[in-house]
Amino acid sequence: MKKQIILLAAVALLFTTCTKEVYNSEICFQETILPIFVSNCSQSECHDSHERAAGYDLSNYEGIMRGVKAKHPLLSEVYKTIRGNSPSMPRKPYASLSARQITDIKVWIEMGAPNTSHCQSCDTTLITYTARIRPIIDNWCIGCHTATNAGGGYDLTTYAGLVSSVTNARLMGTLRNQSGYSAMPKNTSALTDCDINAIQKWINTGYLQN
Ligand code: HEC
Repeated sequence: MKKQIILLAAVALLFTTCTKEVYNSEICFQETILPIFVSNCSQSECHDSHERAAGYDLSNYEGIMRGVKAKHPLLSEVYKTIRGNSPSMPRKPYASLSARQITDIKVWIEMGAPNTSHCQSCDTTLITYTARIRPIIDNWCIGCHTATNAGGGYDLTTYAGLVSSVTNARLMGTLRNQSGYSAMPKNTSALTDCDINAIQKWINTGYLQN
C-alpha cells in the first residue's frame, strides 16, 4: 500500500512538473500573443479598430478578450476558429497560423489569458539576424508583408525584402512612429524599446545576414 502511495505521489509530482513546463512564463501577452493577432488578423478590412469584422477588433488586449474565456480554450471563439485541419481563420488567401502559434495561444488562454508584458529581460548582446532580428519580423510583421500581400511594397519574409526597407531608409522611421512615415506595426502599439534598439544596432553594424 505504502509503495502504491509513493508511486502515486511520484506520478502526481511528475505531472505537476510537466504542467509547469507548459505554463511557460516566456509566453507573454505583449511579446508573444498580441503580435500573432496583429500580424495575422488585423489586416485592413479584417479585425482592426475600423473594420471590426464580426464585431472583433483583434489589435489590442480588450478586443482579443471579447473572444476569450480565460482558462477554457475550447470555449474561446478566437481559439476555436484557428485550430484544426481546416480552420476558418485567418480567411483565405491568408495563411493559417503555425502549430507553434496555435499552441502558444492555447497555453496563454489556459494560463488565464493575463495581460502580461516585458516577461523576458532585454538581451543587448546577441544581436544577429537569425537569433534576434528575424524572430521580431516573423512575429510582428509578415502577416501583412508577404510576396502576395506586400504592405507598402515590402515583402518582409525574406532577408532581401527587409534590407530594402533599410536601404530605402524607411524601416526605423516607421518603427519609431516618426512623422512622414506610416507607423509600424500597423494598427497597434509600437515595438518595445528593447526590440527597436536591437534592430537599430543590427543596422549600425552593417545589417549582416548572420
Ligand atoms: C496589420 C498589417 C501590418 C503589419 C502588422 C505591419 N505592416 Fe508594415 N505596412 C502595412 C501596410 C498596409 C503598409 C502600406 C502603408 C500603409 O498603409 O500604412 C505598410 C508599410 C510599411 C513600410 C513602408 C512605410 C513607409 O512609410 O515607407 C514599412 C517599412 C513597413 N510597413 C514595415 C513593417 C514592419 C517592420 C512591421 C513589423 C514590425 C510591419 N510593417 C507590420 C501593413 C502592416
